[in-house]
Amino acid sequence: MTTTDARPDLASGLTFPPGFTFGAATAAYQIEGAVDVDGRGPSIWDTYSHTPGRTFQGHTGDVAAEHYTRYREDVALMAELGLSAYRFSVAWTRVLPEGAGRVEQRGLDFYRRLVDELLDSGVDPWLTLYHWDLPQALQDRGGWTDRDTAARFADYAGVVHDALGDRVRHWSTLNEPMCSALLGHQSGQHAPGERDAVAAARATHHLLLGHGLASRVLREKGTESLGITLNFTPMHPATGRPADVDAARRLDGQQNRMFLLPVVTGAYPEDVVADLAAAGAPLPVQDGDLEVIAAPLDWLGVNYYFESTVQVGTRPAGRPTSFIGAEDVVELDPEGPTTTMGWGVSPEAFTRLLLWIGDHAPGLPLVVTENGSAWDDEVSDDGAVHDPERTDYLLRHLESVTTAIAAGADVRGYFAWSLLDNYEWARGYAQRFGLIHVDYATQRRTVKDSGRTYAEILRRHRQASDS
Ligand code: FCB
Repeated sequence: MTTTDARPDLASGLTFPPGFTFGAATAAYQIEGAVDVDGRGPSIWDTYSHTPGRTFQGHTGDVAAEHYTRYREDVALMAELGLSAYRFSVAWTRVLPEGAGRVEQRGLDFYRRLVDELLDSGVDPWLTLYHWDLPQALQDRGGWTDRDTAARFADYAGVVHDALGDRVRHWSTLNEPMCSALLGHQSGQHAPGERDAVAAARATHHLLLGHGLASRVLREKGTESLGITLNFTPMHPATGRPADVDAARRLDGQQNRMFLLPVVTGAYPEDVVADLAAAGAPLPVQDGDLEVIAAPLDWLGVNYYFESTVQVGTRPAGRPTSFIGAEDVVELDPEGPTTTMGWGVSPEAFTRLLLWIGDHAPGLPLVVTENGSAWDDEVSDDGAVHDPERTDYLLRHLESVTTAIAAGADVRGYFAWSLLDNYEWARGYAQRFGLIHVDYATQRRTVKDSGRTYAEILRRHRQASDS
């Protein structure tokens, strides 16, 4: 049952620098529900999840964890766990139901209530502006494939900052633009569900441009803690054969370097530019764009779940690649135990990744904005949720962070994915990532054993920092 040897002693040995931020993360569409409430407009995830055949058993975020009405209870649980911070996203369509133009005050009021509740409870809000839920009205005009969407995103950033800038210190533009661009437009496994390399390349660049334009607006309005969250998957070749080595280079290029390097250095990697051009899907860069994209940041959000081994070969039927021009590359099944997502467990790769990012973004503090694992959890007869695999994953990955810090990586915080079980996108409610279990029939919340372990680590950290 356990994925790795149990390490009950590990929790007590974990020490973090004073001031290290410990939190948990969520995203609007995954937890809020209340999709037709207070003037919210439809997003691409409403459309996608309601399209037959797109999501696991047709699951949608219509109800989710009912966080929109239960946010007070959820903030109380955060305080009970001793979180110092909470990372959440704002639903663009609650604020601007048509994506642009008319502002919906009731949507802004919800986030104001949430933020006030957090502040009153001693939990620092970390706000993400975009976690994948593009207004459908903008999608109807081309979505991220249309350059204008980047400008609309910057306008939206300004509206949210005007409403919440007096009480939210930490601002993040995008969550995982790689997923929005490539899962959304190349493999089609996420909204808007396109399978078009040209669209994927255009979306990539316009998302990054949107990040840069929004960063400008947020800076002008006085933001002092600004970041973006990228998702990284270390890519390894299955063999030393040149074709496999090149396959790993290509996937690493699009997964990791195509997003990191423009943001931190102001240039796309040349090999990636060449790969995309060769695939007939060039990045639509205009003069001055890269300067905008490389807006100064205060921290980089790092999401890490697993690593991947790849080689050239024939892809299984019905499994389109997420990478442009990579129809000849297959990702191997991970060795060893996997989570219910089918993802491997590789904490050592996490340490190496943090050091690698630090080398490519010298001087930029890193914040782990997501890390976690899905398992089949149940509430036991004793009323608890015993999730030794998640606890083990959590401890091992926290240990990886401490190892990276000891080796010189400047990691300032860690947010567990996720606070609550929630709507895992196309995988629906079958995947449970929470530190807190949600019974979807009753919406009852139960802190899992992993959540209790996390709370204990945080308690010791506070104690050590205070003494
Ligand atoms: C990340 C997403 C997050 C969640 C986790 C499991 O890619 O940012 O919303 O789905 O994966």
